[in-house]
Order: sequence, then structure tokens, then C-alpha cells
Amino acid sequence: MKSHERLLLENKAWAEETRQRDPGYFERLAADQHPKILWIGCSDSRVPADIIVNAEPGEIFAHRNIANQVIATDFNCLSVVQYAVQVLKVEHVIVCGHYNCGGVKASMGRKKPHLELVNKWLISLKDIYRMHRAEIDRLESLTQRANRMVELNVIEQVRRLSHLAIIQTAWKHDQNPMLHGWVYALDDGILHQLVTLPAGSDIDEIYQQEEDE
Ligand code: CO
Repeated sequence: MKSHERLLLENKAWAEETRQRDPGYFERLAADQHPKILWIGCSDSRVPADIIVNAEPGEIFAHRNIANQVIATDFNCLSVVQYAVQVLKVEHVIVCGHYNCGGVKASMGRKKPHLELVNKWLISLKDIYRMHRAEIDRLESLTQRANRMVELNVIEQVRRLSHLAIIQTAWKHDQNPMLHGWVYALDDGILHQLVTLPAGSDIDEIYQQEEDE
């Protein structure tokens, strides 16, 4: 059986099992969503948000891209953040990176000529590497350097979230959401907290909005 055919078969079985366990399940879920969490994670197939935190459908609103980046000109990510914050009013935004991230590792080396788009996507990771190069390059092994870069990337992406007008406005009016930076270890399945920014956290002045006249 082809792998996509297996997915369709598994889906039928899952829907049937779910319906048998709870006959009203899909009706209830179809009516509305009230997730309290926005998850911004890596596209890596080994880090499926819902599964690693044992969440049910309806609990996590998600955006995933290569190396879990929040880039201020990326309408895809920004529209997810805007909808999650302004409409769904999520209470927490979690940026979740993972050790051994291929995107992060790639950003620490030369560009691959045949991957023009990926190279562009990784440019801002290279900037993070450059900013922290002294600290990272001091580490002995390639694995240690890549893993520290994964952590610094998560912390930077959380900071970038706090630079967005969407977040600053929500902090001012709703005292929400709380921003979190987590990292996932592929080898034992455990999440580690790296940084937490509650509403009203200090932001460098150059990223703040001017007060209305
Ligand atoms: Co990754």
C-alpha cells in the first residue's frame, strides 16, 4: 500500500473509533474552536505539536515552518498570530524549537546553490548566528554549537514576537498572551522551557510603538 493510501485508511478507522467512543464528538468540535494556545513550531515531522503534549483536536492553533521562525514580513506567520491573538484570544504563544534541527544546522554553513528559496528563508538564522558567534563558536563539538544555536534561535523568535504591534497592543489591552520559548529533545521526547515573557515585559525602546498623540 502507498503511504498516502495508508493515511486515508487510518483516517477512516480513527473517525469511526472516535465516533464510537463519543457519538457527539465531531458535532461539538465542528461547531467552534476555543484554543488557548498558539504553537509556532518547526515543520520537522518528528515534532508534531499535538502529539508531544498529548493535546486533543481543538486545543492548539498552530503554525509551522522551517526552524520555527517569526519573520516580520511573513504574512503567513503574521496572519496566524493576528487571528490567534485578536480573534481567538489565545492565552499563550509557544515558540517551540528542537535540537538537531536541520534548518538551524544548515544556516551555520554555506548556502546550497540549488535551494534558492530555502537559503532566503534561512538568512535571518544566519543573522542570529552572526550575533552570537563568539558564544557559539567557543563550544567544542558541532552538535553543541548547533544545539546552542537552536536555543538562541527560539529565544530570538520569542523576542521578535514581542516586537510585533499585534502582541504589544494585546498586552496593553488584554494583558495577554504570555510568550514562551521551548525546546524539544528528539532523543528523549522532553520539552524544556528556555524563556517566558508575560504581558508587559520590557521591550527594547526601538521596537516599541509611540504613544498616540
Ligand atoms: Co527543525
